[in-house]
Amino acid sequence: MQRLILAACLLATHALANAASKDQTIRACLSCHIDEAGKLDIVGIKALDALPPDWQMRFEDAFDMDSDGIAGRLQFVSGHGQPLIAKWGSNLAAARFEDFALIASAAHAVPLESDAIIKTVKEAFAARSPSPTSPFATEGERGRFDAQGCPLCHVTETFEFEGQDVMPLSDFLLHDMGGPNDKPKRTKPLWGYSQSLWQTAHAQRNWNK
Ligand code: HEC
Ligand code: HEC
Repeated sequence: MQRLILAACLLATHALANAASKDQTIRACLSCHIDEAGKLDIVGIKALDALPPDWQMRFEDAFDMDSDGIAGRLQFVSGHGQPLIAKWGSNLAAARFEDFALIASAAHAVPLESDAIIKTVKEAFAARSPSPTSPFATEGERGRFDAQGCPLCHVTETFEFEGQDVMPLSDFLLHDMGGPNDKPKRTKPLWGYSQSLWQTAHAQRNWNK
């Protein structure tokens, strides 16, 4: 009987320790990803899982064959024995949140010991992720976006997620943005973008010229 009680106590302590380390992991991951407003800086975590598998292929144009002045290439990464098309990270380092989490784990020394922990971290991120809403405040803003050629990379096609049409405003391709030492960058998805769309240097350029 005493043994049984001891075993039960040990199990309970173990479970408590596990829960504590889970919380610590989530906190360590979130420490860089929560903005001043207390919101996660990554939008549409769950919606991105529903990105159609041929999305990048629809827009891929590595050699600018359509002569619109914009080349964009997709990136394959390895994923459980098969090549997958990447969509996560500004350098397109991973095809799935779970795989990016492992990269982040190594880069920032935040141990992720098991698939169960990764799942919990993903759920914590997804729960805080702003919904994938349109960043256009007015019709006029959408018109300006189209007129200036932004959809050459921030494509305005939509896909269905939980019964809604969502518009990530990204081709999820790599583009050479022209800086002298700059590596090619993934078009940043702009859904849920809460600042002005026009404040970055590249956004002030008219891509249709
Ligand atoms: C020291 C700060 C820091 C910590 C800690 C950190 N990250 Fe990040 N994370 C970043 C930065 C900076 C980027 C942008 C770099 C990029 O996208 O390539 C990023 C990018 C990401 C992305 C890609 C977002 C996108 O738009 O595709 C994911 C997913 C992510 N982190 C998850 C995690 C997870 C999970 C953990 C915990 C294991 C974690 N991060 C810990 C700083 C951090
Ligand atoms: C040639 C492809 C391309 C075109 C055209 C383009 N963008 Fe981008 N955009 C990108 C890439 C790539 C990034 C990510 C840059 C980075 O990670 O440094 C980005 C990022 C952004 C961001 C996020 C900036 C940030 O710091 O988070 C905004 C806002 C933006 N673009 C607006 C626009 C607007 C407005 C236009 C049209 C005037 C436009 N873009 C045209 C490729 C493009």
